[in-house]
Amino acid sequence: MHEEKIKLPEPVLKGKISFEEVLYKRRSVRKFKNGFLNLKQVAQLLWACYGITDKRGFKTTPSAGATYPLEIYLIAGDVSELKSGVYKYLPDEHSLIKIIDKDIRRELMELSLRQKFIKEAQITIVITADFKRTTSYYGDRGIMYVHMEAGHSGQNIYLQAEALGLGTVAVGAFNETQVSKLLNLPKNEKVLYIFPIGFK
Ligand SMILES: Cc1cc2nc3c(=O)[nH]c(=O)nc-3n(C[C@H](O)[C@H](O)[C@H](O)COP(=O)(O)O)c2cc1C
Repeated sequence: MHEEKIKLPEPVLKGKISFEEVLYKRRSVRKFKNGFLNLKQVAQLLWACYGITDKRGFKTTPSAGATYPLEIYLIAGDVSELKSGVYKYLPDEHSLIKIIDKDIRRELMELSLRQKFIKEAQITIVITADFKRTTSYYGDRGIMYVHMEAGHSGQNIYLQAEALGLGTVAVGAFNETQVSKLLNLPKNEKVLYIFPIGFK
C-alpha cells in the first residue's frame, strides 16, 4: 500500500489545567463513553508520547544516549477527520502514515485478555521498540533502558490525556506475537505497551 502522509496539527504548549493538578487527578480509566476524538487531540497525544521538542531531534521523553528505540502506532477507531485503521507516527515530520485500512479494535481486544475497554476506546496508542538501537551501545543493559523509556513515554500519554480531559490505561497484558502479526510489524520491533484512550 502506498499511502499519502497525513500532516498532523501542531501541538499546543499551553493547557487549561496545571501540571500539579494533572499529576493529582491522573487515574487509570477503563470505561469510555461514545463519541469522536478530533485530529488535534490525537496529534497532541502522539506528540506528548514521542514528539520532537528540539531542533537536534530530541523528544518529549528522555532516551539513553538519545538512541530513541521506540516506534509509535496509532489504532484509530472513532476519530473525525481520520479513517479507521492503523497508522505509524513519524515524529520527525509530526505526521501519520496509514499501514492498515480497517478497524482492528475488536481483534486487539481479543489478543489482550479480552479487556473490553480496548474496543470501546476511541483510539489506542501502541508503543513498540527496536532494541538493537540501544543495545548496540549499551549491551544487555540497554534492554532495561528501552523498557524504562517506554515507561516515560507511557506516563506522558497518561498525563497528556488527563490534561485534555480524556482517560487512558496502561495495558501490559497482551499476546505479543499475535499483536505483532495483527499490526504487521517488522521483525525487529517488539510490542511493549498499549494505551487505549478515550472519553471518560
Ligand atoms: C506495566 C503496567 C501494566 C499494566 N497492565 C494493565 C492491564 O493489562 N490492564 C489494566 O486494566 N490495567 C493495567 N495496568 C494499570 C494498573 O492496573 C494501574 O496503574 C494500577 O491499578 C494503579 O491505578 P492508577 O493507574 O489509577 O493509579 C498496568 C499498569 C502498568 C504500570
